[in-house]
Amino acid sequence: MKKKLKFAIIYGSTRRKRLGIRLVKYLHTQIKKRGYNSYIIDPLENKLPLLDKRFDDFPKKNIPTAVKNVQKLLNKSDAFILVSAEYNHMPPPALINLLNYYYIEFNRKPSCICTYSVGDFAGVRVQGPLRSLMTQLGSPAIKYGFFQPKLLNKFNENGDPINKKDAIERFNLFFNELLWYTSSLKKAKN
Ligand SMILES: Cc1cc2nc3c(=O)[nH]c(=O)nc-3n(C[C@H](O)[C@H](O)[C@H](O)COP(=O)(O)O)c2cc1C
Repeated sequence: MKKKLKFAIIYGSTRRKRLGIRLVKYLHTQIKKRGYNSYIIDPLENKLPLLDKRFDDFPKKNIPTAVKNVQKLLNKSDAFILVSAEYNHMPPPALINLLNYYYIEFNRKPSCICTYSVGDFAGVRVQGPLRSLMTQLGSPAIKYGFFQPKLLNKFNENGDPINKKDAIERFNLFFNELLWYTSSLKKAKN
């Protein structure tokens, strides 16, 4: 049987009452609906200390559980979907901290940067830094993403969109492109 592609959704916010989790939930649901595996990597659930050693630099028997758990998910994923807001025009610190723990896990797998805001600009200013970072990690970003301004009015707490048609159009646009890169790069590696 053909193996299902696996997608890791990497979220950036650790704030109480955070809003981006709504978009995370929506993406997770849609990916599973399409018949693929989806894992949410949430820095609030996997509390990684501020970076001291990268995953590879820990003695094998002494790796903190959260660091190990995230590594397993990244390692088995075929592509990465980052979900990020702008904090003062930059990505949230927990997202940068988490990504820098790992390296080889990203290699030659595509990524996609999805951004949101409560205001009008959908957090697009973090596209630049996150694209540079993911490229340096060996996981270049595709051209499309899910860009959501006014998130608070567009998704409820369960991650259900207020306008289903609009949301699925935005989802399909980037996800179809990401699927192409994910399956092509996976085939090229095997
Ligand atoms: C520290 C901080 C800085 C922010 N800076 C920006 C910003 O530069 N641009 C923007 O559009 N929104 C900014 N916002 C508003 C965020 O878009 C909004 O709070 C969003 O809900 C953050 O995502 P989260 O709830 O998932 O943490 C900022 C919010 C915080 C907490």
